[in-house]
Parts: sequence; structure tokens; C-alpha cells
Amino acid sequence: MSEADSAARGKLIVALDFASQREAEAMVRSLGESVSFYKIGMELAYGGGLPFAQDLIKEGKQVFLDLKLHDIPNTVTRACARIAQLGASFLTIHAYPQTMAAAKLGVAGSSLRLLGVTVMTSYDDQDLRDAGYAFGVKDLVARRAAQARQAGIHGLILSAEETGAMRAALGPEMILVTPGIRPTGAEAADQKRTMTPAAAIAAGANHLVVGRPITEAQNPRAAAEAILAEIASASP
Ligand code: C5P
Repeated sequence: MSEADSAARGKLIVALDFASQREAEAMVRSLGESVSFYKIGMELAYGGGLPFAQDLIKEGKQVFLDLKLHDIPNTVTRACARIAQLGASFLTIHAYPQTMAAAKLGVAGSSLRLLGVTVMTSYDDQDLRDAGYAFGVKDLVARRAAQARQAGIHGLILSAEETGAMRAALGPEMILVTPGIRPTGAEAADQKRTMTPAAAIAAGANHLVVGRPITEAQNPRAAAEAILAEIASASP
């Protein structure tokens, strides 16, 4: 494999949004060597996904645990310390200052990287007002991103649309991970603000999270290879 191919492979994270380990395993088998990084979210995590994550890591894959932790500091620190022992590469936490500080303490000394979730993309300004916030989405995202950097969090998960502005505001160090990726001509499904793999990489994303365009393709491996080629062509 060329250096450019293996760099592109490290940037693609396939979301294993399945209810059971059996289905997730079948997808990993059919993707074979083409994919080296997988995201396990809450659905699969509550269906045997954590031991499965350890199996993937033993096979040499990288794992992103999208568990979106948020609790009192003591609980977050202790949970993060346990999760760090699983050997995963990324873990999401909500980007509240207390939560971020507690999580950082929990992962100290491990290779687990923390990604802050700024504002859920299903929220609009009215949802934030209803929940009692004084800021709209744009301002709250910017505020939390700055707080994440201040807290020394390793990265953020961001919609494709926010990636360019956040890269410009936060500089080169922050790891930016972007879902809502749709290859040219693909179905958007329930994603409203989508970007092609090439555009997201050009906007400054370090990793792209792709689910259905690969997992629901007739030939998932071919779909993954096409996205990898697009990532390689856009990579600096
Ligand atoms: O199938 P699709 O490519 O839309 O999957 C995207 C993945 O990224 C899903 O696992 C979804 O939960 C996740 N995600 C997202 N938007 C966010 C955060 C996470 O689509 N803002």
C-alpha cells in the first residue's frame, strides 16, 4: 500500500450503526482491509459493542467510541479511566467545561483522545432557548469550541458545514472529525447539511465519519474504496 493510500485509510471512519455485534461483524468482514477505523455508537455499545471494540482493536483496527459522556465530574473521570483501558482511539464527551476537565483527568496517561460534542446538530436556536440557553447555535458552538481548546481537549466532532470556520478559528492542532459525508450523487437520507469527502478534507477535517453511504451500498467495499480515492485526491 502506498503512503498516500494508508494516510487516506486512517482518515476514513466507518460508523457501525447496527443493533447487534453479528451484523457489525459481517460488515467489518465484508470491508476487509479497505477500512481500518470504526465508530461504535450508543446502539451497538448497548448491544455487546464494547467487547466487540476490544476484538477489533486486537485485530489491529482503530475504534472511535461515540458514547457522548456527560455526568458529574467524579463519574466522568472514573468512566473515562475505565474506557481508556479498552484501547480505543477516540471517545466523545459533551463539551461542558466541567465534563471536559473531568474526562481529561480520567484519560491521563492513556492514548485515548477526547472529542468534544459542541451542540447536537439536531438542535436549532429555538431548541436551545427552550432548554434555557442564552446563546444561539452558532455562538454556543464557537463558545464551546474555545472552551474545549482551553480545557486541552484533543478534538471536536463537527458538522461538515462548521469545519472550515472552526479550522480557521482553532488552528492546526485540534483534531476535527466530521460526519454528514455524502459522496457526489449519493442519497442525503436524514442528513440536512452534507459535504463530499473531498470538500470536507479540503475544509480541514482530519477524519470523516461515513455510515450509510458505505454500510447500505450494494458493494460496501467498493463504496469505501471510492471514498478513499476521493480522500486521497483532496489530501494535502
Ligand atoms: O449514515 P451516516 O453517514 O449519516 O452516519 C453518520 C454517523 O455520524 C452516525 O453514526 C451519526 O450518529 C453520526 N453523527 C452525525 N451527526 C452528528 C454527530 C454524529 O451524523 N452531528
